[in-house]
Amino acid sequence: MNRKWVVVAAAAGAFIMGTVSVTLSVAQEKKKESKLHRIMEKVNRNNSVIQKGTRNAVFYKKAERDIAKSAKEMVKLAKEAKPLGKDSLEKAKVANPQKVWDDYSDAFIKSAEELEQLLSKVGAPYDKVKPAFGAVKKSCADCHKDFRVEDEF
Ligand code: HEC
Repeated sequence: MNRKWVVVAAAAGAFIMGTVSVTLSVAQEKKKESKLHRIMEKVNRNNSVIQKGTRNAVFYKKAERDIAKSAKEMVKLAKEAKPLGKDSLEKAKVANPQKVWDDYSDAFIKSAEELEQLLSKVGAPYDKVKPAFGAVKKSCADCHKDFRVEDEF
């Protein structure tokens, strides 16, 4: 093979190897993210749908079915999150963190279920949905205050 092409091939090989190793380390980084973290990201997406859809009565009217879907999803995710607190317990500065975690989780599940229930019938009144969602958001903030210590939200 021509010398010039050997150099080109070697450079291309090095480039590919570099790309592969970057890709691998990104994949490893992803894997390190906790299961709870991934659930929280989904929780957050549904939370945004409800947040936007309940901004005012006009938005709400158009978004009601999407909000209902997200509320239902939120109940599922809240239940999935409850047994995943283990990694967060040692970071919390509360006495009996397991019990506190379970209480916050139950408050989250219960408030999400109430919202879901309210929205199970088409035409749920905005002035009931809005405070019901307020209770859900409070449950997020309460738990984050004690257990999501490393970064503010
Ligand atoms: C029972 C406790 C608890 C409840 C309730 C809770 N969270 Fe979290 N949340 C956590 C913990 C702990 C973390 C940090 C987990 C991690 O990053 O490993 C977290 C992380 C997050 C993150 C960060 C994810 C990221 O990409 O960094 C978002 C966003 C979030 N929660 C949104 C919400 C919203 C919205 C609600 C309510 C609808 C909620 N959470 C309810 C405990 C809770």
